[in-house]
Amino acid sequence: MPSANELKIPVHIAVIMDGNGRWARQRGLPRQLGHRQGVKALREIVRTCGEIGVKFLTAFTFSTENWQRPAQEIESLMKLLARAIEQEQAELIKNNVRVRAIGRLTDLPEWVQKKLRTLISETKTNTGLNLTLALSYGGRAEIIDALKKAYALWRSGRLNRPPRTEEEFTQLLYDPELPPVDLLIRTGGEQRISNFLLWQSAYAELLFTETLWPDFRREQLMAAIADFSRRQRRFGRIDEK
Ligand code: IPE
Ligand code: IPE
Ligand code: MG
Repeated sequence: MPSANELKIPVHIAVIMDGNGRWARQRGLPRQLGHRQGVKALREIVRTCGEIGVKFLTAFTFSTENWQRPAQEIESLMKLLARAIEQEQAELIKNNVRVRAIGRLTDLPEWVQKKLRTLISETKTNTGLNLTLALSYGGRAEIIDALKKAYALWRSGRLNRPPRTEEEFTQLLYDPELPPVDLLIRTGGEQRISNFLLWQSAYAELLFTETLWPDFRREQLMAAIADFSRRQRRFGRIDEK
């Protein structure tokens, strides 16, 4: 395995953390233990990204579609999220991680929103890795919400015409500071986007792995980055090398 300084480090990595349920089922455990193990995997990935100089890591944590899961599963995911926010806060601060969130955040229970707001504000001045949690997030919802925002701005006289360029449209997204995704990783074996970062992933390199999310650790991340490093990104142009 090449070391980090021999690799091309993506600026923005996005992860679809799939396979927690199957990880638990394979072991005869309840799904929530799979999710709990998933938090540990995310902790290791966050730490590694910070160490190797990734600037943005966006983690698909809960989708707009996930609200269709049984109430008990949703509740245990929300509790786990709240607990993780609390327990990880000190380490995130120590590691200079800035936490951000995208999605229909007001759909989350108020007690989760409150903890999330605290974490975001406590880490606001950090200058290392930007960790963005996608919560109640859907790529289509984000585009619709951008249109709604443009309409509201226009109605209140703060916008005098519709956005005309990609840059202007980007300003209306949940977090205009998120750069384009360079590497999009999906664990768990499915080969689909499941409505994640549709706008931002337009030219992302896609990497699908059979590894279930709880087993996706430093070694698997470095292998994914090594794969990314070997790819030639042409962005529609002709290779000039
Ligand atoms: C991903 O794991 C975590 C969330 C969607 C919250 P899953 O819960 O989808 O796990 P599988 O796909 O059932 O194995
Ligand atoms: C995608 O996983 C959403 C998250 C990882 C949060 P899902 O398990 O919800 O996706 P599908 O149902 O396989 O498309
Ligand atoms: Mg799944």
